[in-house]
Amino acid sequence: MSSLPFDQREGVIWYDGRMVPWTDANLHVLSHGLHYASAVFEGERAYGGEIFKLDEHTRRLHESARLLDFEIPYSVEEINEACNAVLREQGYSDAYVRPVAWRGSEMMGVSAQHNMIHLAIAVWEWPSYFDPAQRAKGIRLDIAEFRRPDPRTAPCKSKAAGLYMICTISKHKAEKKGFADALMFDWRGYVAEATGANVFFVKDGVLHTPTPDCFLDGITRRTVIDLAKRRGYELVERHIKPEEMEGFEECFICGTAAEVTPVSEIGPYTFTPGNITLTLMNDYSEEVQPKQPTKQMAAAR
Ligand SMILES: Cc1ncc(COP(=O)(O)O)c(C=O)c1O
Repeated sequence: MSSLPFDQREGVIWYDGRMVPWTDANLHVLSHGLHYASAVFEGERAYGGEIFKLDEHTRRLHESARLLDFEIPYSVEEINEACNAVLREQGYSDAYVRPVAWRGSEMMGVSAQHNMIHLAIAVWEWPSYFDPAQRAKGIRLDIAEFRRPDPRTAPCKSKAAGLYMICTISKHKAEKKGFADALMFDWRGYVAEATGANVFFVKDGVLHTPTPDCFLDGITRRTVIDLAKRRGYELVERHIKPEEMEGFEECFICGTAAEVTPVSEIGPYTFTPGNITLTLMNDYSEEVQPKQPTKQMAAAR
């Protein structure tokens, strides 16, 4: 895995329909996406040469843009193909895939009616989002000061760059205090999610997870719910008050980058990674593996 800054790495990036050398994938400083956060992105992982739930990610990218009032000028099929092409070009079988779409620099002001929409797709190796040693014991989460916004104040179902501003501030504050990440409440004060992952709890053998009514209903979250159902676990989606965390025995967060990661502490509340967390962690690791040999793997034989 490279430790070079992200603008100095090697390889290619898919940029507006062409593969360009990694270090040439630039944009102008007067891009609307930079000034007014008119940008949306995806975070995907490839396992064994295949991008897990690629089509769902690409559909969400399209929907995220639509919620920000722009249309990505490539179809879902074209974007899927482009993601696979960059993965192949980069030559990784396990990797992170980052499509990002933004408004360009034709107009500079809040209104951006005539700005071009750009799309870039980069792929890099990113084995573990959290420190593997911390991950095994369960990570420690701070409680963030900022809250997930009321859906009447922001397009909360969009994976929009602007919505990550409060995530970065919250994660920085947590890291300064020695925590791995932060848990955010929502605008009403209910438990919401971590800065880049959804959250689940276990009590008396039952899974509890917040209703995603003002934050992303993650693709990993939905996968974990399916896996829990396959195991026959009872699962309740509901509003969860912070003080209820006192009675929960296990906790984990999940997301494409974080995968399934056990949690041992959230502020004053403690949890012990247990049977259900470990079972779902293993089930998820199996689920993401390609079900059939990919073309790339078959060609290598
Ligand atoms: C804020 C936030 N919530 C939840 C998730 C989980 O989403 P997914 O499982 O689709 O990656 C992510 C990751 O993309 C995220 O950034």
